[in-house]
Amino acid sequence: MRPVILVVDDDVLILEFLDKTFAEAGYDVRPAPSGKDALAILEEIQPDLVLLDLMLPDMSGVQVLGIIKEKYPLLPVVIVTAYRETDTAVLAMKLSAADYVNKPIQLDRLLKVTRKALAESALRRERAKEERAAGILAGSDNVVPSRSPVLRDIYDTIARITRGHTSTVLILGESGVGKDVIANLIHRSSSRADGPFLEINCASLSETLLESELFGHEKGAFTDAVVQKNGLLELGDKGTVFLDEIGEMPLQVQVKLLRVLEKTIFRRVGGTRDIQVDVRIIAATNRNLAEYVKQGLFREDLFYRLKVVQLNLPPLRSRPEDILPLAEYFVGLFNERFGKRFREIHPEAKEALLAHHWPGNIRELKNLIERAVLLEDGPVLLKDHVLVAPDAATEQGLADRIDAALGRPLPRAGIDLEGIVGELEEALVRKAYADAEGNQSRAARLLRLNRDKFRYRMRQYKIKE
Ligand SMILES: Nc1ncnc2c1ncn2[C@@H]1O[C@H](COP(=O)(O)OP(=O)(O)O)[C@@H](O)[C@H]1O
Ligand SMILES: [Mg+2]
Repeated sequence: MRPVILVVDDDVLILEFLDKTFAEAGYDVRPAPSGKDALAILEEIQPDLVLLDLMLPDMSGVQVLGIIKEKYPLLPVVIVTAYRETDTAVLAMKLSAADYVNKPIQLDRLLKVTRKALAESALRRERAKEERAAGILAGSDNVVPSRSPVLRDIYDTIARITRGHTSTVLILGESGVGKDVIANLIHRSSSRADGPFLEINCASLSETLLESELFGHEKGAFTDAVVQKNGLLELGDKGTVFLDEIGEMPLQVQVKLLRVLEKTIFRRVGGTRDIQVDVRIIAATNRNLAEYVKQGLFREDLFYRLKVVQLNLPPLRSRPEDILPLAEYFVGLFNERFGKRFREIHPEAKEALLAHHWPGNIRELKNLIERAVLLEDGPVLLKDHVLVAPDAATEQGLADRIDAALGRPLPRAGIDLEGIVGELEEALVRKAYADAEGNQSRAARLLRLNRDKFRYRMRQYKIKE
């Protein structure tokens, strides 16, 4: 994106000249012929720099500068004057302008000053962002700070949203990328940190149970409702409620949730009274919600309401800079837990970790290190200890999917039975072949198949040739 420069000058010829000059130098210009115009434009766009003539028809440039500095302290302003140079320099500093150029404008100087002011401003913004991100992570020593620019941006977004009013947050990302961790960070960095953080998995409960868990129920609302019970939303008052696997929430419950989000009120199951609550809702899912909306499994209005603040957590494989810091952290963690003394990760082991695809993301990495530290002895974590087979990627993904299918109610979007079964068969045939070191009779025995059946599958999956 081209940087945008707001040029404030009452001289039309100068505006035209600067427009052309800046366009050629790679900038976009918004012209403002007066101070009032400039301030009005600033209400609607955020330029990267302001070039401000101090001699304006309607108000003094000094006054305009003062207002800009007060309202937009990070916006760099370069002033243009016809004053004698030393006076201008002093004035510019006093007014905390980024820099100055004198009239008549010298092109070289103008472009140089512009470039420098933009670069300094970008650096300042970056530093401010890093400070906010660091603030979010401070005090969370069980969270390894990510080095990925995408995650740094997410930390910064968290810092912003937890300062303002209570916005709902939607966290998206594959299984194991750290959605729970981020939800916790949001809670802990917010003014609700002293309030409760309550979590519920929408995929693990039946519709009736989920509803009564969330909203509570009145005495006698249904057969088992012998006493009145408060739901998570009530219990989470002044705190945060984390709705995990929101994609699996039944439509009837979605209707009620939307009401909570829009009006901050709800009724207990069997209740007739509206109850007001003050909670932040964080929702998470590893599913494609837009797809769910298309299939009629997720309400569109709720989807749009949820995704106002949306955090997309990238998979571990797309942020390799995080792999080793996480691995080292987990080694320390499990050293302590199991009383082991691993001191370092062998360079070859590091290479293997970096080369892996991590379909199970951080959870997979954590499990792998846990197993290695538990089973092996230190002090060096070797490649053999963290061996991730070349095709473990697909197997792990498969294992995750089988787990996901069997570990809880099936997703409403359904599962790909034939795909999973086919992949499982192929993975096991390959595994047997590898374990038998290429000996087909032995491989067949490992799968309790006769040789013909085994060979048939070898051909089917194009293993070997
Ligand atoms: N930044 C991090 N530092 C340390 N551990 C992490 C970090 N992110 C995730 N983990 C760990 O990885 C595992 C998976 O994270 P989780 O938040 O449960 O993922 P998700 O909810 O996306 O499936 C958890 O055990 C969590 O503690
Ligand atoms: Mg989770």
